[in-house]
Amino acid sequence: MIKREPVHFLVCLLFFEFAVISCFQNQPNPLLLLISFDGFRWDYLSRGHLPNFEYLKTAGSYANYVKNTFSTVTFPNHWSIVTGLYQESHGILNNHIFDPELNKTFHTNKESMNTLWYDPFNIAEPIWTLNEKKGNNRLSAAEWLGSNIIFNKTSVTSVDYNTSRTYNDIIDQFIKFFTDAKRPINFGAVYFDEPDATGHKYGPDSKELLEKLNELDSNLGYLIDKLKSNKLFDSLNIIITSDHGMQSVQENNNICLEKHVDLNLFDVYGGVVSKNLFLKNYSDMTNVYQKLKNISNLDVYNKSEFPEKYHYKKNNRFGDILIVAKLGYIIYEKCTDLSASTLKGAHGYYNNESSMFPIFLAKGPAIRKNYRIENFDIVDIYPFMCAILDLEPGINNGSISNVESMLKKFSRRHLILYAFISLTPIATAILTAFFLFFINKRSNLPGQTTNAYDGYKILSTSETNSLANNDELADNAEL
Ligand SMILES: *[C@@H]1O[C@H](CO)[C@@H](O)[C@H](O)[C@H]1NC(C)=O
Ligand SMILES: *[C@@H]1O[C@H](CO)[C@@H](O)[C@H](O)[C@H]1NC(C)=O
Ligand SMILES: *[C@@H]1O[C@H](CO)[C@@H](O)[C@H](O)[C@H]1NC(C)=O
Ligand SMILES: *[C@@H]1O[C@H](CO)[C@@H](O)[C@H](O)[C@H]1NC(C)=O
Ligand SMILES: *[C@@H]1O[C@H](CO)[C@@H](O)[C@H](O)[C@H]1NC(C)=O
Ligand SMILES: *[C@@H]1O[C@H](CO)[C@@H](O)[C@H](O)[C@H]1NC(C)=O
Ligand SMILES: *[C@@H]1O[C@H](CO)[C@@H](O)[C@H](O)[C@H]1NC(C)=O
Ligand SMILES: *[C@@H]1O[C@H](CO)[C@@H](O)[C@H](O)[C@H]1NC(C)=O
Ligand SMILES: [Zn+2]
Repeated sequence: MIKREPVHFLVCLLFFEFAVISCFQNQPNPLLLLISFDGFRWDYLSRGHLPNFEYLKTAGSYANYVKNTFSTVTFPNHWSIVTGLYQESHGILNNHIFDPELNKTFHTNKESMNTLWYDPFNIAEPIWTLNEKKGNNRLSAAEWLGSNIIFNKTSVTSVDYNTSRTYNDIIDQFIKFFTDAKRPINFGAVYFDEPDATGHKYGPDSKELLEKLNELDSNLGYLIDKLKSNKLFDSLNIIITSDHGMQSVQENNNICLEKHVDLNLFDVYGGVVSKNLFLKNYSDMTNVYQKLKNISNLDVYNKSEFPEKYHYKKNNRFGDILIVAKLGYIIYEKCTDLSASTLKGAHGYYNNESSMFPIFLAKGPAIRKNYRIENFDIVDIYPFMCAILDLEPGINNGSISNVESMLKKFSRRHLILYAFISLTPIATAILTAFFLFFINKRSNLPGQTTNAYDGYKILSTSETNSLANNDELADNAEL
C-alpha cells in the first residue's frame, strides 16, 4: 500500500490540476450592467423612501458621493465613465463644442459620429469595445453616448437613444440581450434621461422631483424582478451611477451676455453654466475679456488662467475665453432667451460643488455587501468595471486603488487562476522528476519509504504564498 502512494498521488494531482484549470476555463464571462440616471444628485438617495435603491445599498456597496469632472454636464461625464479619461484627454469638453482644427461643431448630430470627436488623441476606447475585443464570446450592448461609433474596427450592439420608449421597455431589451440563447452579452450600458429633465424643470427641491425619484425607484424594482425571474440576479453585477447633480436657480440669478458685450465678436459653445468662447478675430481678445470680466457673478478665464486641477484645458476645444457662472446663476447670450427660460435647476458648475456630485451603487457577485465608501473620482469607475469584467484597462486617468475596497472575491479569483496556470507546468515537471527518481530509487533500495506530501507542500505553499502573501487564498473555500 505505502509503495503505491506516490503513483496514486501523482495521478490525483494531475487530475486535480486539470479539473481546476478546466473549471476556470469554462467559467462564464463576468456579467456587468452599467446604468446611468442623468442628473441623479448624490443626496437624492436620502430623499424620502426609495426602497429599491436602499435595498441595493445593503445588498452591495455604495459611495456617499462621486466627484465628477468639470464641466459637470452630461456628455463629458458619460464619456469619462466609459473611458476613465478626464475631459481634456477624451475631448468632449461640453455637450456643445467647437473644434478649431476640424472647423466643426459637435452636438451629437450625424456630423459628429466620428472618432475624431470622441478620441482626438487616439487613446480613448470605451469599455464596451475593450470587452468585445477580448474575444471568448464576449459581447457588449450599449445605449450610451458614443455607442454608435466604431472604435478600433469593433462595432458593438448599439441601441438608439429614444425618448418615447419607456424605461421598462429598455430594461426588457437588455434582459433579452443578457439571456439570448445564441449570443448573450456580458456587458450592457444603459442611459436613462431622468431625473435630469425634472430637476431642470421643477428644481432639485420640488415635489415633482420626489415623485420622479419614486418612479425611478419602481423602474429599479422592475429591473430587480426581471433579473430574478430570468435567474440573472445572483450572477449579474450592476453599477448604478450618474453624470452630475442639480443646483436650484432663482428667477433673477441670471446673466445675459448681450447687455455687456457685442455678440458678433465671438462664437459661443456650451450650456447655461459654462461656455467656451472663440473670437472671430483674436485682436478683440482684450476688449471682450475686459467686458466679460466686468459682469458680476461670472468667472472669466483665458487659457493660462484656468487652473490645471480641472484637467480640462489641455485641448484645443478650450476656447479663447472660458466663462463659468457662479453657483446658482445661469448665462444666456440673448436677453430674449433669458426671459423665455423656465429653468429651476442647472448644472455645469465647478466639480467641487456638492450639488454637482453624482451617485454610485454597485451590487453583484464581485461586489462587497453592505459596504460604504466615502467618495472617489468618476474616472475611477472605468478601472473598477475593468476589474469586474477581468479586462486589462486601456490608458486612463482612474485609480483602481480608490475603488477596489468595494470588490469582493474578484481579485482573489484572479490570483488563484494565475497561481494555477503558472504553477501547473512547474508542478507537473517536478512531480514527474520526483516520480521517476522515486521509481529509480525504489528499484535500488527496496523497502525505503518516502512521504509524497513533502513534494506537494513545497510545490504549492511556497509558490502561492509568494503570489498572494496575504490571506486572500486562505480565505477562499473554493480552493
Ligand atoms: C470654417 O467653416 C466655415 C463654414 O462652416 C467657413 O465659412 C470658414 O471659412 C471655415 N474656416 C476655415 C479656416 O476653414
Ligand atoms: C486598439 O486596439 C489595439 C489592440 O488591442 C490597442 O493596442 C489600441 O490601444 C487600441 N486603440 C485605442 C484607441 O484604444
Ligand atoms: C422610438 O420608440 C417608439 C416607442 O417604442 C417607437 O414607436 C419608435 O418607432 C421609436 N423611434 C425610433 C426612431 O426608433
Ligand atoms: C482683425 O482685426 C484687425 C484689427 O482690427 C484687422 O486689422 C484685421 O483685418 C482683422 N482680421 C480679420 C480676418 O478680419
Ligand atoms: C463695467 O460695468 C459698469 C457698470 O456695471 C460700467 O459703468 C463700466 O463702463 C463697465 N466697464 C467696462 C470696461 O465695460
Ligand atoms: C491671461 O490673463 C493673464 C492675466 O490674468 C495675462 O497675464 C495673460 O497674458 C493672459 N494670457 C492670454 C493668452 O491672454
Ligand atoms: C469651488 O471652486 C470655486 C472656484 O475655484 C470656488 O469659487 C468655490 O468657492 C469652491 N466651492 C467650494 C464649495 O469649495
Ligand atoms: C490622463 O491620461 C492621459 C493619457 O494617459 C494623459 O496624457 C494625461 O496626462 C492624464 N492626465 C493627468 C492629469 O494625469
Ligand atoms: Zn441636464
